[in-house]
This record gives sequence, structure tokens and C-alpha cells, in this order.
Amino acid sequence: MENFTLITGATGGLGKAFAFACAKRGDNLVISGTKQERLDALKKEINSKYPDIKIVAKACDLSSDQDRVNFFEFIKSQKINVNFLINNAGLIVEGDFINMSDEDALKVIKVNCEGTVDFTQKVIKARDERMPLHIITVASLAGYYPMPHMAMYAATKAMLKSFMVALALEMKDKNVFITTVCPSGIYTSDAMKEAIKAQGFNGRITANTPEEVAEFALKASKKHKIIVVPKAVNRFVKFISKFPSEKSLAKTTGRMWKKSQDKRNIK
Ligand SMILES: NC(=O)c1ccc[n+]([C@@H]2O[C@H](COP(=O)([O-])OP(=O)(O)OC[C@H]3O[C@@H](n4cnc5c(N)ncnc54)[C@H](OP(=O)(O)O)[C@@H]3O)[C@@H](O)[C@H]2O)c1
Repeated sequence: MENFTLITGATGGLGKAFAFACAKRGDNLVISGTKQERLDALKKEINSKYPDIKIVAKACDLSSDQDRVNFFEFIKSQKINVNFLINNAGLIVEGDFINMSDEDALKVIKVNCEGTVDFTQKVIKARDERMPLHIITVASLAGYYPMPHMAMYAATKAMLKSFMVALALEMKDKNVFITTVCPSGIYTSDAMKEAIKAQGFNGRITANTPEEVAEFALKASKKHKIIVVPKAVNRFVKFISKFPSEKSLAKTTGRMWKKSQDKRNIK
């Protein structure tokens, strides 16, 4: 069995930054996402810069039970030991709940929560208990507040944050080290870049590049931190938001998102 770092959502903005940062430190990689062609292209791109690492590119739709079963059968058949899991894949869904299709409303739960929890359990159960296993889960600063106009997304991240912190404590004496990272805006997809821009000054001062977030999370994992927020200004926002009631916080975040979504014609 050989050690590999498994990255979900590796073809996305933050996933790619994680993949390059892990390749740089010499990790073998299993990269996953839904589109095999994009994964194959990413594998080629990383291997052209880091030819000495092994990369396995394997698609898996996190919202599909059968895909997840097939994925882990494949991992087992390849004698891959996952000693680092980066739960990065996530659907970012904006707009009012009432305007979402039934499918989208459930899919965000399936990808962000169900698929991520299942991957985590499958990796933990398959591990070699004598070896350390590190897990990074990408939640969001959105997980700290109820967010009108982005309610489903924020709720899935609150679930992940709560679950992962509790699991980190359950597993802390079992050689499993779980770090949850809660970033604010990250300059990844065009949609996210537009969303950050539409938030004006607040968006600019709280946002990070994907490379900054990946580097920050990997450092925190090395120190066995349980939950971390990138960027001092975001830690300050998190600190002061302990004081208002949950309802006032939700009103403030809701107003902020409504303004930003109106500028982008998101209903
Ligand atoms: N960008 C931000 O402002 C921000 C802020 C805080 C937290 N985050 C979190 O950071 C993480 C990465 O975000 P990002 O901005 O880099 O996103 P992104 O660029 O949209 O990439 C998302 C990744 O997730 C994968 N994915 C989507 N649906 C999937 C599914 N059903 N099964 C498996 N993989 C799936 C995509 O793969 P395919 O394209 O192949 O489907 C892609 O690789 C997410 O968890 C997000 O919630 C982002």
C-alpha cells in the first residue's frame, strides 16, 4: 500500500491550489471531481511540473451513493492508502430558497454534507490505524451565521463545521487529526469573483486567494489545529459576531447578500 492525499473538488479554484501545494511537498495524489476530462487535464498539468509524484485521477459524483461505493472499491483495488483527505468539493448556491428547484435544494445537502460525511467515514474506516491520518474539511465563515438569500449553503456549512469539530475531538487520541477551515470569500470561479466584487470594500478586505487558503489550511493541519479562519479581519468579524443575537446577525448578513445579489440579478 502506498500513501496518497485524496482531494475532492480538485478541479475547482481552491481544489487546484490544494493539489499544487500538496504536489510541491511531494504527496502522491488522488484527484476527484465530476468531470473525468478535467481531472485528466489537471493530472497532466501537475505532472508536467512535478513529474516524480503519482497522480490518480478518478471522477466521483459526491451526490451519488453508487458513485461513492464504486470510487472506494477502485481505491482499494489500486492498493491506495489515503493518509490525507482534503474535503474541498462544495456547491455554492445563492438566491432565495423558494426560487431553487427541488433538485438543487437537495443537491447542495447531498454534495456538501452527505457526500463529504460519507467520504470521511470511508477513509477513516479504511485507514491503517498505526499511521496518522490527516483530514482538512473546507467549511466557510458562512457556517457561523444563518444567511437569508443563501440559506441552504450557509446551513450545510454550519452542519459540516459542527460535525467535523465534534469528530476531531472523538478521534484525537486515535491518530486522526481533523482540521476545519472556514474562509470568507475566495477568488475562485468567475461567479465568486463577481460576488466578492459586488460586496465592495467588505468583500475586498475579507477575501483571500485560493493559494493563501490552501497554504493556511495545510499549515494548520500540520499543527493539528481543529478549526481555523484565514485572515485576521475574518477572525475579528467572527469574534465580534458573538455579541449580537442570532436574529440581528442573520438580518445583517441577509441585507449584505441581497444587495450583492441584486447587483448580479440573482433572485
Ligand atoms: N469561493 C469562495 O468564496 C468560498 C468561500 C468559502 C468556502 N468555500 C468552499 O471552498 C470549497 C471550494 O470552493 P471553490 O470556490 O473552489 O469551488 P469551485 O471552483 O466551484 O469548485 C468546486 C469543485 O467541487 C466539485 N464538485 C461540484 N459538485 C460536485 C459533486 N456533485 N461531486 C463531486 N465534486 C463536485 C467541482 O468539480 P466538477 O467541476 O468536476 O463538478 C469542482 O472541482 C467549497 O467547499 C466551498 O464551499 C468557497
